[in-house]
Amino acid sequence: MENDKYFVIDFDSTFTKVEALDILAEISLEGHPEKEDRIRQIKEITDRGMDGSLSVKESLLKRLQLLEARREHLDELVSRLKNHVSESFKRNKEFIPNFRDNIFIVSNGFRDFIEPVVTPYGIRPDHIHANSFVFDEEGRIVGCDPECLLTENNGKANQLRKLEITGDVYVIGDGYTDYEIKAAGMANSFYAFTENVSRTNVIEKADHVTPNLDEFLFLHNMVRAHSYPKHRIKILLLENIHPQAEKLLKEEGYSVEVHAGGLDEDELCERIKDVSVIGIRSKTNITEKVIAHANRLMVVGAFCIGTNQIDLEACSKKGIAVFNAPYSNTRSVVEMAIGEIILLMRNIPDKSVKMHAGDWDKSAKGSFEVRGKKLGIIGYGNIGSQLSVLAENMGMNVFYYDAIEKLALGNATKCSSLDELLQTVDIISLHVDGRKSNENMISDREFNLMKEGVVFLNLSRGHVVDIPALKKAIESGKVRGAGIDVFPEEPKTNEDPFASELLGLPNTILTPHIGGSTLEAQENIASFVPNKIIDYINTGSTTNSVNFPNLQLPRLENAHRLIHVHLNTPGILASINNILANHNINITGQYLKTNEIIGYVITDIDKKYSEDVIKDLKSIKNTIKFRVLY
Ligand code: NAI
Repeated sequence: MENDKYFVIDFDSTFTKVEALDILAEISLEGHPEKEDRIRQIKEITDRGMDGSLSVKESLLKRLQLLEARREHLDELVSRLKNHVSESFKRNKEFIPNFRDNIFIVSNGFRDFIEPVVTPYGIRPDHIHANSFVFDEEGRIVGCDPECLLTENNGKANQLRKLEITGDVYVIGDGYTDYEIKAAGMANSFYAFTENVSRTNVIEKADHVTPNLDEFLFLHNMVRAHSYPKHRIKILLLENIHPQAEKLLKEEGYSVEVHAGGLDEDELCERIKDVSVIGIRSKTNITEKVIAHANRLMVVGAFCIGTNQIDLEACSKKGIAVFNAPYSNTRSVVEMAIGEIILLMRNIPDKSVKMHAGDWDKSAKGSFEVRGKKLGIIGYGNIGSQLSVLAENMGMNVFYYDAIEKLALGNATKCSSLDELLQTVDIISLHVDGRKSNENMISDREFNLMKEGVVFLNLSRGHVVDIPALKKAIESGKVRGAGIDVFPEEPKTNEDPFASELLGLPNTILTPHIGGSTLEAQENIASFVPNKIIDYINTGSTTNSVNFPNLQLPRLENAHRLIHVHLNTPGILASINNILANHNINITGQYLKTNEIIGYVITDIDKKYSEDVIKDLKSIKNTIKFRVLY
């Protein structure tokens, strides 16, 4: 412990989240006819005292008068304050006991409530310097100790002078009176503490702004709860990502910046330099050039399904993990498929067009229920299998075919080949992925195998259906209705025109790739991706990462976690373990996974080790990124 460092900490709005006298007012004025007005006045006076526009004594006495508080209110006050200790003080439990002899609470508040709140955290009672209430015979609070230095202007500075500390003094507080200690030459630096309140005139005077205790401990390289203060992690969200994402990431403590539109490559190269996480949708291209400028980037969050807009290889080579939201819009696609199946079975697209042209054509001809019909699902993945469940609930007989073995849900029947499925069913819905080999997997031959008058849907990927073959099948009546949401070539923006051979065909629903586009899906994406990001930053877990080897990791308990990303070359694990063995370090858990480009090694070790280990691990050849987590 460095004994020549001393820490002076303010109480109200620093050690606790609140101003104690505001809380006392809530208690003492309970049921008082002027309660609201008095509380407002007390808050105003507090702020004026804090920003220096009212003398300390005046501020105190005026508030005490308005409070009409009594001794018996104090127990309730203390119990409420205990629930309002600032999160970063609660989190960093070791700080106070570690520096017990060097920490002082200096406050313009009152010992009567400060002592019971701070001593359980390890503060020495004789290191609390604060005012004391004066009570009358009936227990009413009528004033404060006239002898106390802290009732006077510049009281905190004078109190420090009296303590005659020799050594470096650091003041942490949210108010102007905390700054006055430094101004009087009684402290080396003043840290404006902004976790609970942020006052411009105090920040202007501060040597440093510390958004919480974590930052202070980080700057002083002291033992702390988080290896890296979360607010230092800067996140940039582009392209109107749903506000839920910003909310979740801010709640986690990150600094989040939101930019409504996209950014072009040059703008992005500039903006990405100090960003740790970037959130994009489909229009922002994360190119190799952008990655080259990304000095701090750890994660790309794709708030969408596809990741074609991201150079995944460049990301991997720089140790940047990419996450997307592959399942968040599953339900939306399924609902649209169900809706289209019903509409097409009733010829509604044509009937609607006729009605708009003033043509009333009431008949049951060619209209069918879906109940009892055979639905064939090609691709029994997330979407296909969910469609299976919903369709069955409507009384359909479900058949499916998948390239790999998939368990049948409900009463669905598995087909052993695509051809078998095509020959069996009345309605076909495609839900395969977009792999290259699926190009034109439904073409003339496949349409010929289908029953006469099938309903055909493609809400998966445009290139899997041969469009001229589909056109022919619709025109010949082989396909009596089609729902097509995806196309081999799709316009890049809403301003670009759409062209297709399918335009104007009978009983054909064409939609602009909106199967998954619902507000619910957007909201799901905006929760799913941030949770992946938070998990990756906090634990190193890469479940569902698009480009990193997928590792699901346990939470860290009483250990430090070394996260090592390297180019996938032989011998790295051995090098890591050699270094740890040479330094006599006990490994409590180790996880390794590789893909073609990178290897990902997680090693949990005992908390005690020297900084040299970290240096050695970082210098292993082919290391891309290394971080320590605790
Ligand atoms: P998934 O990856 O969970 O399922 C795809 C399934 O297709 C897998 O089980 C796979 O084994 C199977 N498969 C691939 N090729 C096959 C083949 N030739 N024959 C038989 N089975 C084959 O994907 P998910 O999430 O269910 O999505 C399905 C499709 O829907 C994807 O192409 C996706 O891009 C698309 N999609 C479209 C949306 C829209 O807005 N229209 C929104 C979301 C997804």
